[in-house]
Amino acid sequence: MWSSKIIVINLILIINNTSPGVETEAKKNMKKSTLFSIAIIAAILITSCNNQTITTTEKMETKAGITKAAWGTTDGKEVFLYTLTNAKGVQVKISNYGATVTSWVSPDKNNKPSGIVLGFDNLSGYLAKPPYFGAVVGRYGNRIAKGKFKIDTAQYTLATNNKTNALHGGLKGFDKQVWEATPASDSTASLLLSYVSKDGEEGYPGNLKVTVLYTLTDDNELKIEYNATTDKATVLNLTNHSYFNLTGDVSNSILDHTLMIDADNYTPVDTTLIPTGEIKSVKGTPFDFTKAKKIGQEIAAAGGYDHNFVLNKKDSSLQKIVELKDSISGRMLEVFTTQPGVQFYTGNFLDGTISTSDGKKINQHAAMCLETQHFPDSPNQPKFPTTLLLPGQQFHSITVYKLSLK
Ligand code: GLA
Repeated sequence: MWSSKIIVINLILIINNTSPGVETEAKKNMKKSTLFSIAIIAAILITSCNNQTITTTEKMETKAGITKAAWGTTDGKEVFLYTLTNAKGVQVKISNYGATVTSWVSPDKNNKPSGIVLGFDNLSGYLAKPPYFGAVVGRYGNRIAKGKFKIDTAQYTLATNNKTNALHGGLKGFDKQVWEATPASDSTASLLLSYVSKDGEEGYPGNLKVTVLYTLTDDNELKIEYNATTDKATVLNLTNHSYFNLTGDVSNSILDHTLMIDADNYTPVDTTLIPTGEIKSVKGTPFDFTKAKKIGQEIAAAGGYDHNFVLNKKDSSLQKIVELKDSISGRMLEVFTTQPGVQFYTGNFLDGTISTSDGKKINQHAAMCLETQHFPDSPNQPKFPTTLLLPGQQFHSITVYKLSLK
């Protein structure tokens, strides 16, 4: 700001000294109007520099629809909170801690804005290890039986962090890492996050370079694009673990939401939630969501939903797979993905011990996840689509969560 003031003062001095000789009326007028123009330029310069000061101290950086704020440190690394805003004023907040979606605020049918995902407004909420609220889960989302798998003849052993199984990438999966983040576009609210998972991290082979690109579109879509490469054969299953409650209030359960999943089959599980290997028809079971029904309708018979649905889509094109509706708010969430499965989880393990930042208890079924992914335990299930990633291959997948009012 001071440098621009100095420039302006110098300009005034120069103008004053560049009209030597007798002051004619014309010269005086010229001087007046030049000084007037300079005053205006000075005002503009100083105001814009003041704005820049606000940007650097509070928001630190702006790009199309994105602001950045300091959010603390962990592992000796700086953590930031990015706010993506679209043309409709809808806001999604994302932290580079765990590439986590911490909040998604949109208006309901009465034009009242509220948050539709579980999250905290401070880093300490996440450092207390909530069950993956909004995070990117990896290297392998969901379970690997007994924490063991083979690639060719090489046997790999992971930490068993969920009873006898490995869950969601291990003790310190991608959800607990500090990612690099950078606004990615001049024209859209896009944030690119990247992370390098070292060979042997959490027991997985290969140096894996992974990026996640979040874009909030003006159509109220949150688009998530995953890319990864490895230098050694590895297994990979990336997903986002957002918990949705479309009512905008976790005091309401999600049991009255209506859900459609475009899946004629699901993968039944054993008592430790490892797929039995069977691909079973949903017909005549509580897992039939091919026609929209209330989540609560048969949840007791299902013992709570925590199952992988085998999507009907036949290829890896981006297709609509889910429609979720809530009559209280009038909100509808549609999910589109390139992935072959979706883990539908009704927050069965939420038990009121965690509260939101504004003090509301997060009870069982207070929110639900729609984790687009490959099937759990695929590395040990030869009949499931492969999750193997080889050197020279490019992993790429897209999931879109689209919010609207019915
Ligand atoms: C996934 C799993 C659940 C549970 C949650 C996190 O959705 O399928 O069993 O572990 O993550 O609590």
